[in-house]
Amino acid sequence: MTNATFPNTRLRRTRAHAWSRRMHRETVMTSADLIWPLFVTDGSGVEEPVASLPGVSRWSVDGIAQRAKEAVELGIPCIALFPNTQPDKRSDDGAEAYNPDNLMCRAIKAVRDACGSDIGILTDVALDPYTSHGQDGLLDESGYVVNDDTVAVLVDQAVNQAEAGADIIAPSDMMDGRVRAIRMALEMGGHHNIQIMAYAAKYASAFYGPFRDAVGSGGLLKGDKKSYQMDPANGDEAMREIAMDIAEGADSVMVKPGLSYLDVIWRAKEQFHVPVFAYQVSGEYALIEAGAAAGVADREALLMEKLLAFKRAGCSGVLTYHAPFAARILNG
Ligand code: PBG
Repeated sequence: MTNATFPNTRLRRTRAHAWSRRMHRETVMTSADLIWPLFVTDGSGVEEPVASLPGVSRWSVDGIAQRAKEAVELGIPCIALFPNTQPDKRSDDGAEAYNPDNLMCRAIKAVRDACGSDIGILTDVALDPYTSHGQDGLLDESGYVVNDDTVAVLVDQAVNQAEAGADIIAPSDMMDGRVRAIRMALEMGGHHNIQIMAYAAKYASAFYGPFRDAVGSGGLLKGDKKSYQMDPANGDEAMREIAMDIAEGADSVMVKPGLSYLDVIWRAKEQFHVPVFAYQVSGEYALIEAGAAAGVADREALLMEKLLAFKRAGCSGVLTYHAPFAARILNG
């Protein structure tokens, strides 16, 4: 046999043994890479399962504090809070968003009381959990979501969350100029160390359905969000959104949804060298659960492959409803 019959390089060599595969692993995920989104509801001692998200519940404020403690024990560094506002507190102008005693503020305080500074609290800024029409901003007579007047309300909402004790303000509304306006208001309020994680590239996606059930805005929403959320066809525009949010003072950026947009995550990381987070959204969670239930593969295998892909693409971390499940696996 001549030398020519042997491959020059055998990439299988390093894959031959488990110890070697472990040693050559390029991407490592830990529980510190997880952010756990949680849904808050009124009352006490309440757990309401969300039908479209099997395994996910809305918790009353006391339960949220318990989940936050669980997160600390699991090594999850941060939770994200989303309120299911009572229907009578929803209005055309979403004014409940800046009520200092709203569900969100009560949840923030309960988590802080329970966990001190052992956990980061991320709060979503957008009006959809508070409006009677389910849109993220204020409407004009034609039903168009107006930009600048909405930004003024978002600023009040963000300051309200900051005063209650939020650590990371996360505007998910996709209005133009809101990061700068929020940053200025936080600075002027003395909140110099409160971070902004901008939902910078947020797409008008079919994967948000179960979330809208969970916060109770789905049934109210008329039309779609395409006049502010991005067209899934666009990548360059995502880079402009991200550039703008960084210039306006965002500390980190988010790409949402997650797995269908790995190219956007990759480009963002290559181009801007800032912390990039992915939101594995409600529909993605539901599809993993449905896949596991249908016997495609087990839940753990489906989930961990997807989470690893986010890290490989350049993410610093992932918002996922599977966070506690993933943390238990990662912690061994
Ligand atoms: C609010 C908001 C949405 C999500 C996060 N923040 C819904 C939307 O934009 O309609 C979706 C999250 C998910 O689907 O898990 N603006």
